[in-house]
This record gives sequence, C-alpha cells and structure tokens, in this order.
Amino acid sequence: MSRAIYPGSFDPVTYGHLDIIKRSAEMFDEVIVGVLNNSAKNPLFSAQERQEMLREAVREFDNVKVISFEGLLVDYMAKNDISVIIRGLRAITDFDYELQIAQSNRKVSGDSIDTVFLTTSIEYAYLSSSIVKEYARYGTDVTDFVPGFVEEKLRKHFS
Ligand code: PNS
Repeated sequence: MSRAIYPGSFDPVTYGHLDIIKRSAEMFDEVIVGVLNNSAKNPLFSAQERQEMLREAVREFDNVKVISFEGLLVDYMAKNDISVIIRGLRAITDFDYELQIAQSNRKVSGDSIDTVFLTTSIEYAYLSSSIVKEYARYGTDVTDFVPGFVEEKLRKHFS
C-alpha cells in the first residue's frame, strides 16, 4: 500500500491545501495530513482546532487521515513506516525553504525519505494561510479562500 504524509501548520487550512490533498489522495492509497508545529511560527489556532477544521474539510476523502504530534516529522515517519512527504510549491519564493527542509529531512532519515512536490493549481498560487488571516483580521470576506466553517471560525476569532 502506498502511503504519504502531507505535513504543515494549516493555520488555517485553505483551498490551496485542499487542492494538494485532493490530488495526493488520487496518487497514494493513503494520505496522512500532519498538523504540526513550525517553531518559526506562532499559530493563531491550537493544534486541536487546526485538526478539527481539517477533519471537516477532508470528510469526503476516504483515504485521508488527519493527525497531529509533537516532535520531528522524520521520527513519526520512521515509527509509522512512511517514506514519502508531500509538499505544495506555489512559486519560486517557496523553493529555497522547501529545498532546505526536503534535503535535511532526507539527510537525517539516512536517505530513507523522499519529498514529492506538487505545484499548486494556478488559481491558488497567491494563497497562503497568512494572507487569509490578515484579511480576516480586518473583516474582509475570505470565503473565496477557505471553506465556510473556517471563515466562521476566523470571524469568531477576530470579532
Ligand atoms: O506549513 P509550514 O509551516 O510551512 O510547515 C512546516 C512544517 C510544519 C512541515 C515543519 O516545520 C515541520 O516539519 N515541523 C515538524 C518538526 C520537524 O520535523 N522539523 C524539522 C524540519 S523543518
């Protein structure tokens, strides 16, 4: 069975993430979405809230599971026998950072992990959780960017 993990902060999940999840779910037998902490970021939503939003968002996919854990991604993957990481690439500006984490994850895993990059669909190329949060903070309608229940959660948070 082919399995892959799609890790990220998902703070909150956007249609850009969902596009990557949908396409990955067509490529692998099972896709595990890992809601993780990025030590360089201070999340708006707790890991629990981010997971709940994602679970709701991926309900329609039978082969997608949402999980969360503390610690290193490579350790979780070794324990759970997963060797493929999925990441989305929006633009050249993502590339430096993505290359760095893909290569370091491969190195610390003893070359047992590969990262598969999916290029984000053009309609979501500009989209990021940070942009969504910034617009939502000022009361702008973000329903073009995130599912309705995420929009509601953002509205409640900033009200
Ligand atoms: O959505 P993001 O913030 O770009 O995702 C980054 C993330 C969460 C995938 C990365 O920070 C991560 O893998 N964190 C878990 C801890 C870890 O393994 N760190 C080493 C690789 S940076």
